[in-house]
Amino acid sequence: MNRLECIKSMVSDCRAVADIGTDHGYVAEMLLNDNVCERIIAADLNEGPLKKAIEHLTASGLSSRCDFRLGNGLEVLSENEADAIVIAGMGGELIAEIIENSKNVALSARELILQPMTTIDRLRKYLYENGFKITDENIVKEFHHYYFIIKAVPGEDEPFDEIYFEISNILLKKKDRLMYEYLNKILKVNENIISSIEKNSDSVYNEKIETLNEKNNKIREMMKN
Ligand SMILES: C[S@@+](CC[C@H](N)C(=O)[O-])C[C@H]1O[C@@H](n2cnc3c(N)ncnc32)[C@H](O)[C@@H]1O
Repeated sequence: MNRLECIKSMVSDCRAVADIGTDHGYVAEMLLNDNVCERIIAADLNEGPLKKAIEHLTASGLSSRCDFRLGNGLEVLSENEADAIVIAGMGGELIAEIIENSKNVALSARELILQPMTTIDRLRKYLYENGFKITDENIVKEFHHYYFIIKAVPGEDEPFDEIYFEISNILLKKKDRLMYEYLNKILKVNENIISSIEKNSDSVYNEKIETLNEKNNKIREMMKN
């Protein structure tokens, strides 16, 4: 499954989905073609991408089921207008900022499907601290890059170790093969950083080395369990 197919597969059947940062409109197209939802609110901050989405969805014969909106984040929506909100292909911090700026709208949706390109730990932390519970996660790999797709719903989670903001407990529990591949890659990256610090530093002791070693030990422990 590729990134866009995975995003589509995580949206529950519903009436209306908002695709925030729609760009080319591919997510909207897939959701409508598979009748995951009746209609889509396809929104983008920028005119160029929104124009692309309008052209693409019109050419696909789907524009009668679309509302196209130009604007920032969830500001284009009113409360309860979208059953599901998709925000994909942006940085984790930007996604958190978009949710925070219109929290009432985000909390009025049944689910949020989020696919951050970076800083996923910050997004998971934001969700945990702001009344959203992660109920599902998937990992996909495209062109040597790993993508994580989160499903979050309004709700509280039990307290857990901070490491799970970085490493998804849901994916560990799923025993996902790609997750183990990803964790092995993280271990290697950290080991390379450690040896390069050791080579270039006079002192054997280094706070960074200690933190990375601790992190790697935790990851190895998780992989064993
Ligand atoms: C890399 S594209 C991702 C397109 C698509 N969602 C995907 O996952 O393939 C990011 C899109 O988000 C839009 N964008 C960036 N910040 C935004 C914001 N605050 N509100 C709405 N759209 C935004 C950009 O204009 C761009 O079209």
